[in-house]
Amino acid sequence: MYVLETRSLKKAYGAEGEVCVHALCGVNLQVRKGELLAIMGPSGSGKSTLLHILGGVETPSSGQVLLEGVDLATLNDDQRTIVRRERMGFIFQSFNLLRPLRQRRTCLCRWSLAACRRPKPASAPPIRSA
Ligand SMILES: Nc1ncnc2c1ncn2[C@@H]1O[C@H](COP(=O)(O)OP(=O)(O)OP(=O)(O)O)[C@@H](O)[C@H]1O
Ligand SMILES: [Mg+2]
Repeated sequence: MYVLETRSLKKAYGAEGEVCVHALCGVNLQVRKGELLAIMGPSGSGKSTLLHILGGVETPSSGQVLLEGVDLATLNDDQRTIVRRERMGFIFQSFNLLRPLRQRRTCLCRWSLAACRRPKPASAPPIRSA
């Protein structure tokens, strides 16, 4: 099983027929556990769009994102939030740090929130769909 997979992923901004930008046109991607991946391309080629969709921040126009075999589209808002908090790490282009906190404290803050919610598991639990 791939740790991360996309199937025919498409994203269009704007209504078809009007000013419509096809940011992603059928991305198929398979990432195995332990693989290191770099997404490269010119400005406007869809790198951020792809990352936002992989992280469940944006939704695709069509296609699927599977994280450890679970289709992100089957998760509700709360479940996506938990996936982002416990399974993903994002460093945004614009950083988005909490204003009074710096990088290290921002990370600690996230982990503290996760630790408050439930006892620390021996290993990361599997993602469950709704
Ligand atoms: N919210 C949006 N509404 C409309 N068009 C958008 C939106 N977000 C991105 N786009 C368009 O989608 C395309 C892909 O943008 P994206 O930001 O994913 O590219 P990128 O590869 O990350 O670029 P960069 O290297 O400059 O960060 C571009 O044509 C962009 O103008
Ligand atoms: Mg970008």
